[in-house]
Amino acid sequence: MIPLSVPEISGNEWKYIKDCLDTNWVSSAGKYVDTFEQKFSEYLNVNHAVATVNGTAALHLALKVLEIQPEDEIIVPSMTFIASVNPIIYVGAKPVFVDVCRDSYVMDVNKIEQLITEKTKAIMPVHLYGNCVDMEALLNIAQKYNLYVIEDATEALGTEYKINNKWVKAGTIGDIGYFSFNGNKLITTGGGGMLVTNSEKIKQKAKQLSTQAKLIKDNSGMYHEEIGYNFRLPNILAAMGVAQLEQIEEFLKIKRSNAKHYSELLNGIKGITLPKEDKKVRNCSWLYSPLIEEDFPVSRDKLIQILKYNNIQSRPFFSPIHLMQPYQAYRHGDMKVTLELSSLGINLPSSVGLKYEDIQKIVGIIKEIC
Ligand SMILES: Cc1ncc(COP(=O)(O)O)c(C=O)c1O
Repeated sequence: MIPLSVPEISGNEWKYIKDCLDTNWVSSAGKYVDTFEQKFSEYLNVNHAVATVNGTAALHLALKVLEIQPEDEIIVPSMTFIASVNPIIYVGAKPVFVDVCRDSYVMDVNKIEQLITEKTKAIMPVHLYGNCVDMEALLNIAQKYNLYVIEDATEALGTEYKINNKWVKAGTIGDIGYFSFNGNKLITTGGGGMLVTNSEKIKQKAKQLSTQAKLIKDNSGMYHEEIGYNFRLPNILAAMGVAQLEQIEEFLKIKRSNAKHYSELLNGIKGITLPKEDKKVRNCSWLYSPLIEEDFPVSRDKLIQILKYNNIQSRPFFSPIHLMQPYQAYRHGDMKVTLELSSLGINLPSSVGLKYEDIQKIVGIIKEIC
């Protein structure tokens, strides 16, 4: 089986995890949490990082820190994983769904302004499949309407965006960015997440709320002035994160090179639209994601079946969230591109361990259909 995206565990993971086991520091305290936060913020060139138990919790935390209230509205794409939306509802706020761009699959910034009302409090760009939203244009809108920007960078660790003639990492451009270390992500801790910010105030609040809102001034640690959360990442998982982070540049090099091989081998096939990269974006190539157009000999879904029959795991793009029963009541704009992409897009195997021969095999099967 050629899997879609599995972890690469070939560094110091065993060593650091063994250290936790040997020393009994397996739980919520220990040196690896601090080290992971510090190394992660250094890697991203952002002031602060707060580790969380998963990416969904990091978003939940972000919304609490920014004091998003019931009935507030947050503009978010419908073409994303469900976890980008659920925490908005957990805090009683309302997602407002915006369409995406056909070339980049991410939030269409030109369609945001028409959805803004006096209830809008934040915009949540999701950097889907390693791509990056046009953050320069988005920040202009956020400034004009005084809105927070929370970046979902769970699928874009390592992606870079050029702003003011400088390359910066996706997730560090808005007020808060968040990441996931789920098993299929670029680096993994089994399960885990990270909230990042340049604001000292946001970091303090995030740290406090994620650790049961213990009153810092109270030496006993037993007094809680507000309702907090147990969103801490255990030390043993942070240890894995530190080891994974040590290999990130190598992982990125392989992912980008594999994406290049796919594009070279798939180039020119009628009915396949290759992923594009804007000149302001350096995609981390988390998942290689072309479109299987109507004029390809078989449908996208049929192609997934054929690949599966050949022991190759692939995945359709996300289903439009605004059409799912629990989310149908929320406002949305024109969703033409979202609908189109959700029926045409496919994620092809993209693990760090993927070999050139695997890519040749996958493309060979696709070419046989033509
Ligand atoms: C776009 C997106 N947002 C949010 C999440 C949530 O992350 P987690 O699974 O770590 O909670 C994920 C990953 O699973 C994701 O792909």
